[in-house]
Amino acid sequence: MCGIFGYVGAGANPEVLIEGIKRLEYRGYDSWGVCVACDDQLTMLRRVGRIGGVDAADLDLGGKGCLSGIAHTRWATHGAPTEANAHPHADCTGKIALIHNGIIENYGSLREKLRAQGHRFRSETDTEVIPHLIEELLKSEPSFDAAFQGALRLLVGAYGIAAMWAEDPGAIYVARHGSPIVLGLGKDRTLVASDPAPLVAHTREVIYLDDGELAILHCDGFETRTLEGASVNKRVQQIAFGLPDIERGGFPHFMLKEISEQPESIHNAYRGRIVRAEGTAKLGGVDEALLRKVQRCHIVACGTSWNAGLIGKYLLENLARVPTQVSYGAEFRYSHPVIEAGTLVIAISQSGETADTLAAVREAKIVGADTIGVCNVVGSTIARECGKGIYIHAGPEIGVASTKAFTSQLVVLSLLAVHLGRMRGLSLRAGLLYLDALERLPEQASQLLADRERIAEIARQYARCENFLYVGRLYEYPAALEGALKLKEISYIHAEGVQAAEMKHGPIALISPEVPTVVLAAQEEIRDKMVGNAHEIRARGGRIIAVTQEGDREMEGLAEHTIHIPKTLDPLVPVLGVIPLQLFAYSVAIERGCDVDKPRNLAKSVTVE
Ligand code: G6P
Repeated sequence: MCGIFGYVGAGANPEVLIEGIKRLEYRGYDSWGVCVACDDQLTMLRRVGRIGGVDAADLDLGGKGCLSGIAHTRWATHGAPTEANAHPHADCTGKIALIHNGIIENYGSLREKLRAQGHRFRSETDTEVIPHLIEELLKSEPSFDAAFQGALRLLVGAYGIAAMWAEDPGAIYVARHGSPIVLGLGKDRTLVASDPAPLVAHTREVIYLDDGELAILHCDGFETRTLEGASVNKRVQQIAFGLPDIERGGFPHFMLKEISEQPESIHNAYRGRIVRAEGTAKLGGVDEALLRKVQRCHIVACGTSWNAGLIGKYLLENLARVPTQVSYGAEFRYSHPVIEAGTLVIAISQSGETADTLAAVREAKIVGADTIGVCNVVGSTIARECGKGIYIHAGPEIGVASTKAFTSQLVVLSLLAVHLGRMRGLSLRAGLLYLDALERLPEQASQLLADRERIAEIARQYARCENFLYVGRLYEYPAALEGALKLKEISYIHAEGVQAAEMKHGPIALISPEVPTVVLAAQEEIRDKMVGNAHEIRARGGRIIAVTQEGDREMEGLAEHTIHIPKTLDPLVPVLGVIPLQLFAYSVAIERGCDVDKPRNLAKSVTVE
């Protein structure tokens, strides 16, 4: 989704700003823009499409340097991706420039009022009302600061904002209400961004603004206060990752890099958390007293995280016998769920910023539920608002299609299930068996990755198909949903994940030689049932790619191609089983010439509802 980057102080120049928004490309965008302040003038450049190929020299500063600048990547909501709708947006005088993430809900009425006052609008966006509002308030307010604050108080909706005023070119004004804003503190420069990725090239010291806070940045520091004007002291935090973590490091795509990092990221998800002597897990971010009183869980999440949540349900019910429900973040609030005493709401989110999941967390808190976050991004809004939680420690995930975060989420949910299970009668032996299997996963994931070329070869043979089915049962049913999601996200092939037994109730009508089926059949408990389903597909002329455990001759006989995964416990099968599906989707997308890291229409972090 939209990205914000701003910079004031030594080293400010158009190249730095463009470099900054390039690091936000992964969030997904369709147009972009930059504004720099030099002398007492603001100069802007706005473009549709990708940043690549455009030179910072296109921003003609007449040889002069700049003091500060803001830059934005836009993911269109109000108005098509055109140059006029791209940010920054200016007021009538061109002296105020502003970039915005989020949605201003009352923009219609504000625009009408401003139009009546003589303001001219040049875009279809909700954002454009803000610079005009500031311009209007500047007529009566004593300072830009006061006008900025006054304008914010009139906005209804969500925003992360960075603004500049030509008459104060050494300052950037920022504010947050529902859309993340993080400040970067350099030696003689201060930065702002919508996430820490573009900041690490300049500093590791950051401050996360909270909702209802604004900040004024200067080259030598910043001040923060609330919308009501009360000053606030913010805690400086350190970004835990470095530049190499957000660069491709020799891989052609972030997605492939992140798939390949899974042996390490899986390990990092359980590292330091296994208590062998007690056959359980130590989860520092969630206190024992909270877990002991849990009577049921309600998982909220979106996208890939929701698929992980479905597996989480099986884990929590099977290992801990805790009844668990899973809801889409967007459904939770509006479906008015019954939240009884003793319900633990678990919010799963890689980014920790997904608006629908965040809204579910807020609703859960209103109705009095305990909430914990299972997030990747440290200090993200969901992590902070939940207050308690378990970080998955997967490291920055840049590819839009989530890969390593999914397997790390599964590991963390497994640890939680074992821990809750041990509190509720899971035997020491069973706990240990499970933990042993977890500790074998990194090595097993490496073995699977070694099969990458063969999987790419299989993928090449199916890359022209336009429809795919993925079938699985039990733990492999959500894995089938995830495999199908990966394929459709990055290759634009229609793919459907189906519970294998449900094939007979409709989807089997789709089977033909043109519609291949990926059959997930690596769990021991339901292996025979899956063989039965595979027979049904074959009998109707369907082509099968099977993912099974080593030595399953019967399934091999039914499939056109078989991918073997190393032997593990059934509940952990998806952690391994999804890796070939990620590789398969990646290779199909490459074969079709798709931009796997920046798939059309998608955003990495969906910060609007
Ligand atoms: C977007 C991303 C998906 C992700 C989903 C939920 O749709 O493209 O990859 O699974 O958001 O994101 P979250 O950060 O909450 O896990």
